[in-house]
Amino acid sequence: MAHPLPRSVTIRPASRLQGRIRVPGDKSISHRALMLSALAVGESRVEGLLEGEDVLATAAAMRAMGATITRSDDAIWRVNGVGVGGLLQPQAALDMGNSGTSTRLLMGLVASHPITATFVGDASLSGRPMKRVIDPLSTMGADITASPGGRLPLMVRGLCPAVPITYTLSVASAQVKSAVLLAGLNTPGITRVIEPIATRDHSERMLAGFGADITVEQGESGRTISIVGEVDLKPRSIVVPGDPSSAAFWMVAASVVPGSDVVIENVGLNATRAGLVTALRLMGADIVELDPRVVGGEPVADLRVRHAALRGIDVPHDLAPSMIDEYPALFVAAAFAQGRTIARGADELRVKESDRIAVMKAALMANGVRCEEHEDGLTIEGSGGDPIAGGAEVASKLDHRIAMSMAIAGLHARAPITIDDASPIATSFPGFFDLLHTLGGEASWG
Ligand code: S3P
Repeated sequence: MAHPLPRSVTIRPASRLQGRIRVPGDKSISHRALMLSALAVGESRVEGLLEGEDVLATAAAMRAMGATITRSDDAIWRVNGVGVGGLLQPQAALDMGNSGTSTRLLMGLVASHPITATFVGDASLSGRPMKRVIDPLSTMGADITASPGGRLPLMVRGLCPAVPITYTLSVASAQVKSAVLLAGLNTPGITRVIEPIATRDHSERMLAGFGADITVEQGESGRTISIVGEVDLKPRSIVVPGDPSSAAFWMVAASVVPGSDVVIENVGLNATRAGLVTALRLMGADIVELDPRVVGGEPVADLRVRHAALRGIDVPHDLAPSMIDEYPALFVAAAFAQGRTIARGADELRVKESDRIAVMKAALMANGVRCEEHEDGLTIEGSGGDPIAGGAEVASKLDHRIAMSMAIAGLHARAPITIDDASPIATSFPGFFDLLHTLGGEASWG
């Protein structure tokens, strides 16, 4: 009988991190590239796609609904779309694995097609709230039957033609915004989303790139995004920039491990995603943007990050939407800062792949970091640059970003830190441990 692969990994303290690395493609952009290519008429080409489990779940779902998706040996993905309105009835439940983005965006697509799809996922995803998308999609006419509490498994019976709506987001969520806009693609008339607080705008950018009739207006009450439905999408060639959310771990690692000097190539720096760079700079981080350029319609640069003495800050609340996925990494930076960091105004962290406030608090405290928990964030007492105690095992709770953040913490600890299950890292960052080794870190399995 084959032995299961070891899931637990132990990270040893590193003397310094040095080298050049390239992070994988942006997860948000990769999902959208596959979805929109699958709806265009003709063949699209995608380069730099993130080949993580979450994005592969999207690819499998789009195949199950009629798109032809292939990958060549040079890692170029080709997608032959079915056309807006052309999604086919999937023959089996769509398995979304751990991926909230796949689930919520695909629910939007199914909602305005004459098909029915069942969505299932792992234990983490099955605990996450879907009411935020069920509400607007039901108003558009979709018939959605969910498990108690508005959770997965759930079934979406689309309505075609659906009813266009004007929807004001009640949570700052790019997934909810995107679900409604994607439903609007196959809905007659104009579907509008008003977002009082700006969230990542990859859907808007990419929809425009594919030829959708989409406009964005900035007004008193926020951004209004309007999409005219039933317009054909044209196939495109897309280059996916590197994921700033993956670069985040190396920005923090290089900042906190003394003597470090790291270049992270090809990092997407869309302003709706770059909040961590701002927060780290406020803490005194040494981050230099080299060779700023545009890749796939997104601003990109190579980041040179050198070790710096960080100081605790009161993290500005308005940065939250542009660094929502980066709080676990920021908490680690705070653990090494001089003084106290107060990171609040981020209650959405409670409903990510895990409750990232409670889980990071437990992980940091077990490794000798003093934290105070708030409903909407953490206050963290920094070590003043000294290594933290380490020595404890951390429960990753099916959350890739917990596993990676605590792996980084283990690089500057007095004793190794063990992650009980590092397998969730494959959802967003295949090759994470290879890069850790490239930079001079050491991790051992089992
Ligand atoms: C994402 C939006 C964010 C983010 C997630 C990816 C997206 O979620 O946390 O990792 O691609 O639209 P919310 O919309 O729930 O904030």
